Amino acid sequence: MKENQKYITKNQERFIAELMDFLSIPSVSSNEDYILGINGAAKFVQRQLIACGANIATIEKTEGHPVVYGEKMVDPSLPTVLVYGHYDVQPADPIELWDHPPFEPIIKDEKIYARGACDDKGQMFMHLKSLEYLTRTNQMCCNLKFIFEGEEEIGSPSLEKYLINNKEKLKADVVLVSDTAMIDNNTPSLIYGLKGITYFEVEVTGPEKDLHSGIHGGVIPNPLNILCTMIGKLQDENGTITIPGFYRGIVTPSDEEITALHRIPFDVEKYKKEVGVKALTGEKGYDPMERIAFRPTLDVNGIWGGYTGQGAKTVIPSKAFAKLSMRLVNGQSAKAVIRSFSNYFRTLAPDSVDVSVRVLASCESALVPIDSLPFRAAEMALEQSFGVKPVAVRIGGSIPVISLFEKVLGLHSILMGFGLDSDDIHSPNEHYGIFNFLKEIETIPLFYENYAKAFSSANPKCFLASSAM
Ligand code: BES
Ligand code: MN
Ligand code: MN
Repeated sequence: MKENQKYITKNQERFIAELMDFLSIPSVSSNEDYILGINGAAKFVQRQLIACGANIATIEKTEGHPVVYGEKMVDPSLPTVLVYGHYDVQPADPIELWDHPPFEPIIKDEKIYARGACDDKGQMFMHLKSLEYLTRTNQMCCNLKFIFEGEEEIGSPSLEKYLINNKEKLKADVVLVSDTAMIDNNTPSLIYGLKGITYFEVEVTGPEKDLHSGIHGGVIPNPLNILCTMIGKLQDENGTITIPGFYRGIVTPSDEEITALHRIPFDVEKYKKEVGVKALTGEKGYDPMERIAFRPTLDVNGIWGGYTGQGAKTVIPSKAFAKLSMRLVNGQSAKAVIRSFSNYFRTLAPDSVDVSVRVLASCESALVPIDSLPFRAAEMALEQSFGVKPVAVRIGGSIPVISLFEKVLGLHSILMGFGLDSDDIHSPNEHYGIFNFLKEIETIPLFYENYAKAFSSANPKCFLASSAM
């Protein structure tokens, strides 16, 4: 058995027990009531960094939730990898749909169930355990820096400033992130494209108070009716988004990209069954995979107002609200979409109501090169641990900091995630397979080894032989 596997086998029960402790801390970033959970999770990560052999582990204040920074420097001539992850999680709601309490992790059918099990506590935790393995067996072949944040799930609002203020400290050669999914357990995947996002809360106001819908019906502007009509106008019958200039700047994928996309196995029937829908929909002229990988989208995430309690209450509400988001692709500008949507949405309303638009989160899309040294090192590592070549894919999800690493630090990211799209991240009963959890710690050290080797061939001044490899 390989040394790495021996270490995993010997320690896996402890790894899982430690992860379960981490998952028991309710680190929901979007809700002030969970501030103890956020700070508790940050402290947990700091303690783990030290226990795993880091020379530096600090909790750093930001304008929002803290960043946990860590460092294990071995030799300045070796390449430096900046590992990113997030210790915050999504709210567990709707909590009544969980089979077990979301912050009391359990193991069932070889999977760990808890909020954050996959996204991202489970995935980031194995980076700590990889550090532990490498330091305890004296095999550090890269310098490692760690940045674990607590605001990813709310759009990383404080991170750009943090990166700008800590440029020197965060100097590295590449970023490594495990916060994405694989096609399936036999198809390891490297993500080379993430979508951007603009996320809005809109408010439509009619009468100054709720009114009887019989006494006043027919003459009073109903903000909920109006909001629904306005939202209905954001897409035409072909599923095309009608916001002026919305598609401006989009870079169409190359023929090779499109061919590569269609080589990826995707079973529409199986997918429909998995998510429980009768049919797929979307923008005309594109197939489902193209829509997910290459096309921008628009969704209402929630809509409310008026009476939503039990039974019938006849009312014309004073106010109507919705949370709306657009996922953006390569070439679109979140800033431009924010401006354009805010103006356009107001023009859709009749004069009888007031409209306000608030931006809750935004980030730019990200594309990373697939012909770089670290990308090839990651491809090799996945092939070594899974026994099959990984596929390169663009996905519909967003990780706000990835475009910021590029913009502020000039760093590309390697998105080597081990989850599955069926892990129910953000949904009730989120889980992470033990198989995936253990594959991670097998693969991460291989990445460092491959990358250090490739780096030293490309940089003759790198003294790889003097390190413990
Ligand atoms: N880890 C996810 C992104 C992701 C989702 C990657 C699915 C691969 C597959 C991340 O934590 C996330 O949920 N991001 C948010 C960002 C938003 C709040 C700005 C998202 O994509 O909705
Ligand atoms: Mn995540
Ligand atoms: Mn998430």
